Formats: sequence, structure tokens, C-alpha cells
Amino acid sequence: MEISVLNEALEKIDTAVMVITVFEDDLQNISHIQSLNEAMGGKITHLIESGEVKGKYREFTLLHTENMGPQRVLVMGLGKRKDFNTDKIRSIAASSARYVRRINAHEMAIHDFSSFGVEPSDSACAISEGIILGQYRFEKYKEKKKADIDAIKTLKIATLESERLDYLRQGAETGCVLAKSTNFVRDLVNEPACFMTPTIFAEVATQIAQENNLKLTVLDTAEMEKEGMGALLGVAKGSVEPPKLVVLEYNGNPNGKRIGIVGKGVTFDSGGYDIKPSNSMYRMYGDMAGAAATLGAISAIAQQKLPVNVVGVMALAENLVSERAYKPGDILKSMSGKTIEILNTDAEGRLLLADAMTYIRKYHQLDALVDIATLTGAAIIALGRFISAILGNNKDLIQRMFQAGEGCAERVWELPLYDEFRSQLVSDVADIENIGGRSGGTITAAAFLKEFAGDGPWIHVDIAGTSMMEEEIMRYVKNPYLPKEGGTGTGTRLLYHFVKSFIE
Ligand code: BES
Ligand code: ZN
Ligand code: ZN
Repeated sequence: MEISVLNEALEKIDTAVMVITVFEDDLQNISHIQSLNEAMGGKITHLIESGEVKGKYREFTLLHTENMGPQRVLVMGLGKRKDFNTDKIRSIAASSARYVRRINAHEMAIHDFSSFGVEPSDSACAISEGIILGQYRFEKYKEKKKADIDAIKTLKIATLESERLDYLRQGAETGCVLAKSTNFVRDLVNEPACFMTPTIFAEVATQIAQENNLKLTVLDTAEMEKEGMGALLGVAKGSVEPPKLVVLEYNGNPNGKRIGIVGKGVTFDSGGYDIKPSNSMYRMYGDMAGAAATLGAISAIAQQKLPVNVVGVMALAENLVSERAYKPGDILKSMSGKTIEILNTDAEGRLLLADAMTYIRKYHQLDALVDIATLTGAAIIALGRFISAILGNNKDLIQRMFQAGEGCAERVWELPLYDEFRSQLVSDVADIENIGGRSGGTITAAAFLKEFAGDGPWIHVDIAGTSMMEEEIMRYVKNPYLPKEGGTGTGTRLLYHFVKSFIE
């Protein structure tokens, strides 16, 4: 999709569909579309007066025009002014794009939203994000594709304020990079386990590293053995697919902060000997969503050349059942030296993360460490399917992550990580157990991680509930930029904005 920002009146812009918006409770005030309305002989005001256009959120009205730049005008309701925010822009842009695609058009234009009280760069960013995210489909393995997933070939963003042009252009570009990176992560998550093994993931990461000039290290089994990564290797033992530890480094500023990101990359989680029931097992090809989001975020950060430094560690393994698989009761020696009693082979993610965090702390001085993982079903019980859980040892990081989530609508909520929860992990025979019983499952998982996160600032993001959508959940939720089913790409934009907050 080609995006341009124009300093031109709406009625002059040559496009198949011009998208304009009106507020439900401010129908008199249409100064942002006044000249277009006049060029159409007052048609929009007539429709407002007759009550056909009410401005209700999600209402849309298509008008065909004559003798002007746009061939059609799509009037979108914005709802009430007090409910307006950048996420509304994202949604309006996404539903407009879907509509444009449905009527077989390939060009759209839209007015800038900064006159409604948002920053020009945020306005343009949300527009391009919505349009690119909203057109996503995973159709790689279908012979008949439903539609071109980039149906919109050109997008024009129009403003009458020339001093906003640069901000709008830069915002549109950022939105484009973020949405494409998110769609890339959706693809990785949706790829079934047979096509997304640790080895293949490492190859994809190698390609990303080459494209963006990143430093890449891939540790294989022998190198991980040398580091003493007994926890990660314990999980991986049950599969013929060898595990990988992928390390990506982006250096954007020699004097800037250095952020570490560790992602859980279980390319399939059968549960191991504590095997999952079949209806819970099906989606477990998506258990590498944390590693995918890590890769996608670093790629976006590098493309945007953010003046910070990032180290990403992606811990990749399959959790299967075989004569070589780890078993309940086994004791694993982690890279940190701590021994772990395995009470449940399905609590495998924390084992990978433990060694990956020890590794990143050994080789990198970090100002902040974040790990991201589809870690616990309990996160779904606690916060549902639209909010990720955050826990950590540092209030500043919690606050930053919260702000990042609010800004990009990948929302997070803190769960309390009090010291008491550690007592649920006391083992008779090893230094720690890998599960803490039924109560507070997301918190005890974080309490486990805390033992391996080191003393510096650390925050954990549990995306078990948010990384994958199910059709029955989306039936009544109208979010036009989220897929109805499958990988959401959650974490990508969140991590980007979190890292961006460290730019001084
Ligand atoms: N990958 C799962 C968590 C998960 C569940 C992700 C549902 C996405 C959707 C994780 O490895 C797991 O199985 N966790 C167990 C932990 C338990 C054994 C302490 C769980 O949540 O049941
Ligand atoms: Zn598991
Ligand atoms: Zn898992």
C-alpha cells in the first residue's frame, strides 16, 4: 500500500472512496468536511437533517458523487465526542478499509483527525495501523484466497494544515511498520507446528537479522549444554526437533538505554507426560507467540531506527511425549545453578524462560528486562481474552508497560507479586518446584520467574489470553482490526512502545 499525505481540500482529492466522519453529538459542527459538503450541494447536511446520518458509532453511509475528485464518499459515524480516542481512529480506518475492499475498490482517502484533539503523528499512525491490520487474513494454505489481503493499493491522508504534514507523514510511516510487523507476527503464530519448528523459527530470525543489520547468534544443543541450560534442554529432550536459542541485538544508540526482551518460543506444547486434553491442545502451535512478538518488535524498532539498544533472546523448543521426554518427578539443573523439581511437564514455558533470562543477564548489562510468554491458562481466567497480565519487581517498568498498552490499545493489567507466593513453590528435594498449585497460577508462575530474573528491574507479560483469538469470543466483539480467529500479534506494538519510552 502506498501512503501519501496531501495538503489539499477533500473534494479535490482523486480517489475511489473518500472516508469522512461525524460525531453523533456534534452534527452541527462539520467544519472539517464543510467544503466537501458544499461541493456536493449540501448533500451531507441534508442527510443529517433528514436523520439518515446520525453519527452513531459504526454507522456508515455510502454516497456516489459526480464531477469531483472522490468518486464516492463514505460517511462514518464516530459516536460521542467524549468517547473519542486514537483507538476509535484505528477501528474506523479498519472498517472503512474492509468496506472499500468489499465494493472492489482499491483506493481510499481519509481526513486527518488531529483537529479532534489527538497528536497529528498519532492520528496518522492509527489510520495506517487500522487499515493494514484490518485487511489481515491467514490464507497461505488455501487454494482459493478470499480476497487480496492488500486490496487497498493507495491511501491518501488529507489535511488543510500544512504545518502538520511532516508529523502526519512520519506517523503514517510508523503505523505502517508497526502494523506490518504485527501481521508478520500473526503469520508466525498461525503457522502450524509442522512448519514452524525451532529450526525454522531460527531461519526466519536470521532473515530478519540480515534485512535489518542486526547481530545474530543462534545457540544449538551443544552450545546450550556448554552453558548448562538444563531446564531448557530438559523440556526439549522429548522431541526430535532440536531446540534453539536465538539472540538478536539491535544497537541504535551507544549512549542509550539497553533493554532485554526474552520470549517463550514453544513451537508446540502437548503438555508432555502431563498431557493436555485434546481440545486444549489444538491451538498449542501458537505457544511461541512470545518469541514471535519479540522478533516482530525488534524488527519494527530497527526499521524505525529508534535511538535505543535492544537484546532479544528467543527460547525455542517443542514440548512432546516420547521415550526421551522429561517426566514428572525429574529434577533439572538450570543454568543459574538452581535445581528444579518437575511436578508438571506442562509448566514448561517457565523452564525455557529461566535459562534464557540467566543467559541474557550473563552476557548483557541491561537497564530493563522484560519477558513475554503464553505462560498460564490462569491468566485467561483472571483477566479474560483482551487484557494481558503484567507482574514484576519494579514499579517504574509496570507503569511504563501500562502506558504503552493504553497508547496502542494492547492493554495490560498488573497482578500482585507479593513474596508470599514464593512459598507455593517450596520443594522437598530441589531448590524450587515448577508449579505452585491451583491458586494464583499466573502469579506463582511469575514468582518462579522472579527467582531467575536477577536483581535488576524486570517485568513479565503473560499473553496466554490475548495472543490467539477464537471465533466464539469475537462473535459479539466488534473489533475490525483484530482477526476473528488465530494469532493477534499481541505484544508487538506493546513492546515497541515500551522500548520507545526509554528514549531520553
Ligand atoms: N502454554 C500453556 C499456557 C496456555 C494455556 C497458553 C492456554 C495459551 C492458552 C502453558 O505451558 C501451560 O500449559 N501452563 C499450565 C501451567 C500449569 C501446569 C501450572 C496451565 O496454565 O495450565
Ligand atoms: Zn504447557
Ligand atoms: Zn506452554
